[in-house]
Amino acid sequence: MIHLPRGTQDLLPGTTEKWQHVEAKFIELCRNFNYQEIRTPIFEHTELFQRGVGDTTDIVQKEMYTFQDRGDRTLTLRPEGTASVVRSFVQNKLFGQANQPQKLFYIGPMFRYERPQQGRWRQFVQFGIEALGSADPAIDAEVISLAMEIYKQLGLRSLKLVINTLGDQTSRENHRNALVEHFEPHKEELCSDCQVRLAQNPLRVLDCKKDREHPAMKTAPSILSYLTEEADAYFTKVKAFLDIMDISYHVDPNLVRGLDYYNHTAFEIMSDAEGFGAITTLAGGGRYNGLVEELGGPETPGIGFALSVERLLMALEAENIELPIDDALDSYVIAMGEKAELKTAELVNQLRQAGIQVDKDYQGKKFKAQFKAADRLKAKFVLILGENELAENKIEIKNMQTGEQVSISLPDIVSYLTEQIKKGGQ
Ligand code: HAM
Repeated sequence: MIHLPRGTQDLLPGTTEKWQHVEAKFIELCRNFNYQEIRTPIFEHTELFQRGVGDTTDIVQKEMYTFQDRGDRTLTLRPEGTASVVRSFVQNKLFGQANQPQKLFYIGPMFRYERPQQGRWRQFVQFGIEALGSADPAIDAEVISLAMEIYKQLGLRSLKLVINTLGDQTSRENHRNALVEHFEPHKEELCSDCQVRLAQNPLRVLDCKKDREHPAMKTAPSILSYLTEEADAYFTKVKAFLDIMDISYHVDPNLVRGLDYYNHTAFEIMSDAEGFGAITTLAGGGRYNGLVEELGGPETPGIGFALSVERLLMALEAENIELPIDDALDSYVIAMGEKAELKTAELVNQLRQAGIQVDKDYQGKKFKAQFKAADRLKAKFVLILGENELAENKIEIKNMQTGEQVSISLPDIVSYLTEQIKKGGQ
């Protein structure tokens, strides 16, 4: 037997309904906030992520599924969505469209070669949004509120929003120098990755899982002390918008995020539900002014976030939230006798064409077993077609909720059932 690859999963009936439910909720919410869907390829030129996500990030250095195709191109299964969306924005000149900012959303699988554990997959599905073309702090708050809203509307309560600013270029340079000065005397005590990070991208040291407990981490200089006046004012405005929208947050100056393109606002949403597990981050995002230019477009500010469906569903489970999934079938037709079988096929076809959900037996089951099957499928109505009914051009209908059974003339069945289902749905 061939098993699925490590870090991937099969989603089977019973689970896929949950995925469809949260996906529909996300789409509805995006519609509410006026974000439109964008679909980009699952693989891109490797260079896109090297330049977009950043050469010194763990994602690019250790986690990408990169391969050579038969034409000797170096391609990579996308590890995230932002770089692809920005590439598409530039390539399709979306910056030239009348409606700005361009507010886009996406749903799709991402791939990272990470050590699989609870909540960490090698293939996972992200819901994400990107707003390109606005440097208004109000849109930072809008992006954060959309992210929070999806969890809230699905019923999650144990949520923590953590925000930070990474400042503008000057703030970052000053902070970078301060970090180098701070960590340099401890260089030998840090892990080998951090020794490289210190030279290449010292901000990444703050994000290190191995050196988290090192005393120098706790006393590391905070970006908040190095903000320029503009960057500080920007962050203050973002917070004011969050306050007015009644979204509570904690400011964590050590929140640096694992991708290189960020500046100004950065945020993560965590679950603090008991039993959620070691990985508590549900979603992450931030501002990335400069990325559009980096990928060859005109100077365009951007902000977005992404969450994974896997962790969203884990959080729902940790809080014992059942999604309101309607997996009941409208109707099931039971045929008794050979003659009725042909008529049943015709009837099932008619009902389906009228938009009524219906199924029938295909295994030659006896009457009782067919009834059981209808029950298992949670059929709201069971239609029984026997030789007698057929002779009278009638059909028996049992309402499975009330137990009531009536006899209806066959030509009236579609309109009768349509009416009944409409009533049931109210
Ligand atoms: P990220 O923080 O790398 O950001 O990923 C966003 C979310 O994807 C995480 O918070 C987590 O829920 C989920 N995630 C990441 N890796 C895995 C994994 N191995 N298994 C399951 N879930 C995972 C980004 O990807 C940015 N593109 C977000 C963004 C959009 N920033 C601006 N716009």
